This record gives sequence, structure tokens and C-alpha cells, in this order.
Amino acid sequence: MLSWDDYHKEDTTPAAAAPQPATAQPPVQKPAHVEAQPGRPVQPTEPPVTQAAPMHAESPEAAPSPAASVAQATTANAQAAIDPLARAAAAVAEIDVARGLEELEMGAARVSVDEKAMINCRADLNQLVPFKYDWAWQKYLDGCANHWMPQEINMTADVATWKSADGLSEDERRIIMRSLGYFSTADSLVANNLVLAIYRLITNPECRQYLLRQAFEEAIHTHAYQYCIESLGMDEGEVFNMYREVPSVAAKAAWSLSHTHSLSDPTFNTGTPETDQELLRNLIGFYAVTEGIFFYCGFTQILSMGRRNKMTGVAEQFQYILRDESMHLNFGIDVINQIKLENPQLWTDTFQQEVVQMILEGTELEVQYARDTMPRGVLGMNAAIMEEYLHFIANRRLSQLGLPEQFPGAQNPFPWMSEIMDLRKEKNFFETRVIEYQTGGALSWD
Ligand SMILES: [Fe+2]
Ligand SMILES: [Fe+2]
Repeated sequence: MLSWDDYHKEDTTPAAAAPQPATAQPPVQKPAHVEAQPGRPVQPTEPPVTQAAPMHAESPEAAPSPAASVAQATTANAQAAIDPLARAAAAVAEIDVARGLEELEMGAARVSVDEKAMINCRADLNQLVPFKYDWAWQKYLDGCANHWMPQEINMTADVATWKSADGLSEDERRIIMRSLGYFSTADSLVANNLVLAIYRLITNPECRQYLLRQAFEEAIHTHAYQYCIESLGMDEGEVFNMYREVPSVAAKAAWSLSHTHSLSDPTFNTGTPETDQELLRNLIGFYAVTEGIFFYCGFTQILSMGRRNKMTGVAEQFQYILRDESMHLNFGIDVINQIKLENPQLWTDTFQQEVVQMILEGTELEVQYARDTMPRGVLGMNAAIMEEYLHFIANRRLSQLGLPEQFPGAQNPFPWMSEIMDLRKEKNFFETRVIEYQTGGALSWD
């Protein structure tokens, strides 16, 4: 069994006793990092030279002068040609502390709240505090407090129902297949858009912190769908290809994808009214339409099934996903409105009309999906009732974005959906699980 004493003994073992490679390595003529950055000068005033160079020196407590540091780095470079350890020391000596992952106007200075901005901000993005966007940080904390994993949900009854000849009607089976078909790829589309398009362009660390949490939640959602598909023994190829092969599913996926193309181009950047509006189009397309409208017919159908005690494992997975999604939606609405607040010139009359059009297109696509998945009444609902619900949802999205409602008087025929989306922990599920995750953090080597 390992103990900390073993680690201590290893640390004090003389370097000469370290195991040697079985085969002698040919001398390295040039260190790789020198080839990659031939013009990089050694900065005599940089603190890392004095801190890092002595890592393998005999007397680390003796801090050399800047001039001595340059000499040391040069010596290290010369030694690097033959000694991997010296090569590592030379690379460390040349680290540039002012250089970051992103181009910064503020250099390595401390960031003040006033310098932070939603987009086109050049302040240091590695400094989470001081907080400016508390709502984003709070959503990150709320997301963590609602952590769950798909394999913790019992699927036994679902497997029996799915495999039984009379467990479900054909219409109910169609709903399960279509839902898993759409969602199994839709969450990947959302995740890819987050990390390949949005993350780089949202320029404050509080929002990025939530985006990272959301990205992991999208991975959990795709995991959950895969877990359902695998548990039920479905034809995986058929399910995962519905977003290309089934028209009502493919149309929604294609609409979402059309709003990520330009932003996922690595050369795309914001900074002009046109490109800033393109980012807003993407955010509205993914948060308000994809996560805010496209998810609602399928979620309502599956949760209605669960309320009837059918496929309760799948329904429970969807219930936790819907809670996450309602937070994604609220975060997205806050992001969009904050960008509008900081950049009012982007929210022109023409652009507002375009956004209304986007919401209406999304609603129409979801109504078509409802008709395709419910050719007749099923689970106490039908396509016409779902259409009413989707008009209610569309009005909600429009008013959240500060735009006029387009379906006057539309009512919510499914008030129980709002209760499920509510983030209050009315079940013990999360309370018990939060405790488990906290104890899980205290790892033991036994
Ligand atoms: Fe998701
Ligand atoms: Fe989401």
C-alpha cells in the first residue's frame, strides 16, 4: 500500500539512481522550442528567468542577477543540445509571463469591473474576479448544485415496457424514437456551437465559467440519450441518423446548423456592427430557438408519458435535462439582453424584425415536428394542442427578448411543464445526491 512516506523517500533519492532509458537517445541538435520561436528574445528583466532557471541548480536559494540569468539561459541553451533536463530548464528560463492565450490590451495588469464587457473586451480574461456579471456566476453555482449523471437512474422498468409487445402503442413508440433521434444529435450541435463558436467570442470570465459548465451538461445530456438508446437496445445507426434522414427532425437540425456556420470559422471575429449582429443571431438561434423552442414538443411528450407511468426512467432523464435546459435558456436570454444593453446600436428596427422572423421560423418548424410525431391524439394531447403551447412558448421568448408577442391570447395548456422546469428541489433526489458528490470529493487511497 502506498503511503506519503514512500513519496517522501522517492523525492530524496539521488538523481543518479533514477532509471535510465534502455536505448541510448541520439543527441538532439536543436531544441524544438527554439526552432518554433526563432525570434523570441530573452528578456533580462523578466522575473521567471530568476525564478525558473535555478530549478536544477545546486543552490536554489541564491537568486542570480538579471545579467547572470541571461548567462545562465545561454548556458542552458548550449547544454540543451545534449541534455533533455537542460533543454527543459532552458525552455522554462525563456517563459514570457506577459504572453497569454489571447491578445490583451491591458497586459498582465489587474482588471477593474469597468473594463469588463460581454463582447469585444480586451481586458485579461483569466481573472475571474472582481465580478461584474454576478448573474452568470450564480448560474454556474446553481448548475453545479444540480449535478446528476444518467446511469444513476433506474431503467429496468423501461426496458421491460419497451421490449414487451403490448407495453406501448405504435404512436407512443414513435414519440420515443423521434425524441431520442432529435435530441441525441441536437445536444451535440449545441455543445459544438458553445465550444467552437460562442466561447471565444464572449469576452468575460464569469460567462465563460458558465459556458464551461453548460458544455459539460450538454455532454451529460448526450450521454443520457445514449444511455437510453443502449438500455432499450435500439438501432443506434437509425436513431443517430434521424437528424439527416427524417424530414421533421432534419429541418430543425439544419436550421440550427445554418446559424453556426460563420461563427465556427476560426477566422471569424466580432468588432463591427455586422459581425456583432452575427454573434447575436447565433445566440438567439441557439438559446432562444434551439434550446428555447425546438426542445419543447419532445420534452412535453416524454414527460407526459412519465406522468402516465410509462417509460419512467426515460422520463426522469428528460426531467433532469429539462431543468438544465431551462437554466441554459435563462442564461442565454441574460447574455443576449446584456449585449443589447452594452451595444444598443446593434438592436436596430431591422434587426428586431429579423429576430421576430427567427422566432416564427423556429415555431413553425416545431409545429411541423408536432404534426409528424402526433398524426393523431396520444398521451392526452394532439398536434393542435401542442401548436397552442408552442405559440405560448414563442410569445414568452419574444417578450424575454423585449419584442412584441406574435400570438395574442395564446394560453399554456400544459401548466405542469412549468412546475417541472422550476429549479426548486421538490424531490429528495438532488438533496441526497449533492451529499454523495461532496463525500465523493474526499478520496481515499484504500
Ligand atoms: Fe442539453
Ligand atoms: Fe442546453
